[in-house]
Amino acid sequence: MNIKAIRGTKDVLPQEAKIWRAIEEKARSLFALYGYGEIRTPILEEASLFTRSIGQSSDIVRKEMYAFADRKKRMLCLRPEATASVVRAFLEHGLDKDNQLVKLYYFGPMFRAERPQAGRLRQFHHIGVEAIGSSSPYLDAEVISLAVEILGKTTLKGFTVHLNSIGSQQDRSNYKLLLKKELKDKLKRLCADCRQRYKLNLMRIFDCKNSACKAIIHELPTINESLGEESKDHFKKVQEIIDSLDIPYTLNPYLVRGLDYYTHTCFEIVHPNLGAQNALGAGGRYDDLTHDLGGGKIPAIGFALGLERIIAALEPQKTMPDPGCVFIAVLGSEAMELGFKLLHSLRRQGISSEIDYQGKSLKAQMRLADRLGSRYVVILGEDEIKKQKAVLRDMREKTQNEVSLSNLVKELGR
Ligand code: HAM
Repeated sequence: MNIKAIRGTKDVLPQEAKIWRAIEEKARSLFALYGYGEIRTPILEEASLFTRSIGQSSDIVRKEMYAFADRKKRMLCLRPEATASVVRAFLEHGLDKDNQLVKLYYFGPMFRAERPQAGRLRQFHHIGVEAIGSSSPYLDAEVISLAVEILGKTTLKGFTVHLNSIGSQQDRSNYKLLLKKELKDKLKRLCADCRQRYKLNLMRIFDCKNSACKAIIHELPTINESLGEESKDHFKKVQEIIDSLDIPYTLNPYLVRGLDYYTHTCFEIVHPNLGAQNALGAGGRYDDLTHDLGGGKIPAIGFALGLERIIAALEPQKTMPDPGCVFIAVLGSEAMELGFKLLHSLRRQGISSEIDYQGKSLKAQMRLADRLGSRYVVILGEDEIKKQKAVLRDMREKTQNEVSLSNLVKELGR
């Protein structure tokens, strides 16, 4: 039998890879604009990095880590996320030493042994940032605005930012005590999973999709009522700043996040095109994580967007980030001669261009241009050559006009 890709992993072929690259490039230019530097950390880490940060009782650590003992019997794992890795690297390389705010970004594969389904892969890819060294609510706003800007630049529409605060560790301990008390005599009405969560990871009950559990959840006090004064002030300020930037968001008191390291602000960006796995990305503050991983207490915030989910949400929209490619459609040998020269000069100017080498009909060339995601098609036929002109078609705007051949390269380079 032929060997196939492992379930829950996927090959990205050139056509789709082009879209990945376009999204990554949009993100990269925003990272430069916002002053974030790139970090690349290993995919392989010590498993304890994640048990200590994401938490022993989290779903990721309990059920989803690709962990194994190496030949020296050390427990290693494929990283399930990169926040813990970035904080490890931050501490390991002494980036905490001069008390500066350190702003980092990363791209890369993450691994979780989840049950594969639509939107849920075992190897998926994050575009993420971590800003370590400040508790300013303005930094929360910067990070949220950066996530929103990246999604906007991909041409994606219709996503919603859900925002909440889960307070400090102390606020959360108080809240958990309150929840335990409230839920004690409702336990029988909860599903088996939630009864398990009650013992192991109480706040995960807020993620339960069971309708009976949902009804009970809505009778419970929310975390917002357990926030101390400082936490409340921080959250209020974050909202004021985001309001002043006109970034729309929805307050969601049931957003608690599945990773233990979060404190205070947390957010998730959801999209209706995605079905049950509707999060495009998520993030939040993790003010205790540097301390939990052996450093001083350095406040920080970040997010990660799921690249496959962004692409899945874009698909029904039929718009993709502009890969900027030009297709030269030619009719006849004279047009091919001229078209080939044009191709060469466009490429020399750094404009990605394609031509048909298979003698396809005009209709088939247009289909190919579409399949390649070309933004512009230059059509060269006998008539056009006689007039020393070409038809320039804008594939996105669905408009076309005649451009003189001498102006074409300039026109496309704009
Ligand atoms: P997360 O919510 O676990 O957060 O993952 C972030 C995003 O990755 C999700 O919203 C989703 O788009 C995507 N994702 C997660 N699991 C899968 C999967 N199995 N298949 C496909 N896509 C998936 C984190 O990982 C945090 N490290 C985010 C963060 C950074 N917080 C602070 N800094």
